[in-house]
Amino acid sequence: MDGSSSQSAYGKPGFSAGVRVPVCSTTQLIEKLQLKWSTVKEQPYPAMYSSYFGGIILDPAMMLVPIDDHMVHRGHGVFDTAVILNGYLYELDTHLDRFLKSASKAKISSPFPKETLKNILIQMTAASKCRRGSLRYWLSAGPGDFLLSSSGCPEPVFYAVVIADNFSQRKEGVKVVTASTPMKPPLFATMKNVNYLPNVLAIMEAEEKNAFASVWVDESGHIAEGPNVNVAFISKKKELLLPAFDNILTGCTAKRLLALAPKLIEKGLLKGVEIRNIKLEEAKDSAEMMFVGSTLPLLPIIEWDGKPVGNGKVGELTLALSDLLWEDMISGPERICVPYEDDGALLRSKL
Ligand SMILES: Cc1ncc(COP(=O)(O)O)c(C=O)c1O
Repeated sequence: MDGSSSQSAYGKPGFSAGVRVPVCSTTQLIEKLQLKWSTVKEQPYPAMYSSYFGGIILDPAMMLVPIDDHMVHRGHGVFDTAVILNGYLYELDTHLDRFLKSASKAKISSPFPKETLKNILIQMTAASKCRRGSLRYWLSAGPGDFLLSSSGCPEPVFYAVVIADNFSQRKEGVKVVTASTPMKPPLFATMKNVNYLPNVLAIMEAEEKNAFASVWVDESGHIAEGPNVNVAFISKKKELLLPAFDNILTGCTAKRLLALAPKLIEKGLLKGVEIRNIKLEEAKDSAEMMFVGSTLPLLPIIEWDGKPVGNGKVGELTLALSDLLWEDMISGPERICVPYEDDGALLRSKL
């Protein structure tokens, strides 16, 4: 043993066995964290909020969560998202309603009422200066101890982060596979809690098979959902079909799609819209198939388990529905204008 530090399997400096592990001072820790972030060209997380700190954090090195937080070591936390597009937050109210429903199912009480949560998220987005990306926010049982029960945690904590992302409308078709990773039981699938290991394994399973994602089918042979998306079909009779939400997450985007789809019925393009149980065989016989989720908002699927969906090309009705959702995100009524400070300065300079 020469006592020198070695290169770890991850390509980062590690320590050979027998080397003394340093005890770091607070100053050294802050320096190390700042050094890690100083090499990152574009900061992907332009702002964070933590009720633990009671404010907005702009320095990525300080975007931290306590190790004894029960969301970290027991998975006692729920989360939700929202998209930031062209300086607007899309469908924030719908996401926050689902967030609070998830929290109540997970027996976590929010430290703030909905309007305060909303206000914090809007102010954090404004401070981030980010105009295209997404929000991710969590309600945690909070820090306290390392026990199983969260009864020793004095206060639940609200965390939120802005993630810069240059996403755009998805028009190219992808391949999917039927998941063999078991799906979550209904209580856990219907609340957006942080226990996403089945979802992680389901997407890894798809990636190993060169597919974009996998599709869960429940025990009774009905289509469920993807690992972080809902799934929808166009039948050969030109009906839009979505699996019932009883055992899966009620997607905010799927609900919006259902509200917008009648526009295509009025135009005579779609024949109807149905939310019901869909057997695997019926789904496999559909004309078109798509994923539906916040950041897509709609993704055409052209191949499933190695076989073409419909004619194997991106479906016309899928694209028409995608346009409806995208237009709604760009100019629809479900948007909140973010009050960026620069905009105020710009407005004042024009007066
Ligand atoms: C398991 C699961 N299903 C469906 C969805 C789609 O929901 P939304 O449209 O609200 O993004 C998500 C994403 O949050 C998810 O994680």
